[in-house]
Amino acid sequence: MEHSGTHTSGGQHGDGGNHDGGAHTFGAGAESAEQLWDDRYREQSRIWSGRPNPQLVVEAAGSVPGHNATALDLGCGEGADAIWLAQQGWAVTAVDVSAVALERASAHAAESAVAERISFQRQDLATWRPDTGYGLVSSQYLHSPLLDWRASAATAAGAVAPGGTLLVVGHYPQGQHPARETFYTPEELAAALDGVLDAWTVNVLETRERFVTGADGESRTLVDTVLRATRNKR
Ligand SMILES: C[S@@+](CC[C@H](N)C(=O)[O-])C[C@H]1O[C@@H](n2cnc3c(N)ncnc32)[C@H](O)[C@@H]1O
Repeated sequence: MEHSGTHTSGGQHGDGGNHDGGAHTFGAGAESAEQLWDDRYREQSRIWSGRPNPQLVVEAAGSVPGHNATALDLGCGEGADAIWLAQQGWAVTAVDVSAVALERASAHAAESAVAERISFQRQDLATWRPDTGYGLVSSQYLHSPLLDWRASAATAAGAVAPGGTLLVVGHYPQGQHPARETFYTPEELAAALDGVLDAWTVNVLETRERFVTGADGESRTLVDTVLRATRNKR
């Protein structure tokens, strides 16, 4: 495992996943992913930072949208990544299971004047399958106790066009985290995509440290698992 030592400071998901703070109860008793995540979003008027995720900015900043300027953001939450991608010139499809999150994301997009470049859709990735043929597919911290991350990573890969880019970023499991089974190492991510990425070039597969400041004002170092891969042209 390579530790790149890239240090970033926060981002859309800059709190390092406060969705799972006290996570031993997160998801318990939820009847559906929609209910779980709507309830989670309703707990606060804003959950994430409003800034794009740092690994997305690092990895996608160099990929100027080409002839296929379509991007898919899976589990878009409050929309900061989708807005940033639209500002970079992508036509973005942004998907989340939570109507509450999507309402906020749409409002933020309207404020940022790129609303016409983003299509927000409420979909449950447990069953929904996106169109194929996206120039960029981004999955950022798509962790949920009701979603199999291995299956959603494969779904993300399946939506990428030949020549397009897959970017999967998730929390690296540190310590005895109660949500351990929803996090993954680079090795686990590679194993989950074994066979799926046969006709791909893996550009990045590593861990990266990230400095964040929590709501309590305390600074912490988090570790991300980062995969960027390019689907070979036919
Ligand atoms: C930890 S948050 C990350 C949000 C955003 N990508 C970010 O980085 O800030 C996980 C997101 O995935 C969404 N999600 C969870 N399960 C889902 C599912 N089955 N289908 C679609 N979205 C889902 C949640 O509503 C939530 O917005």
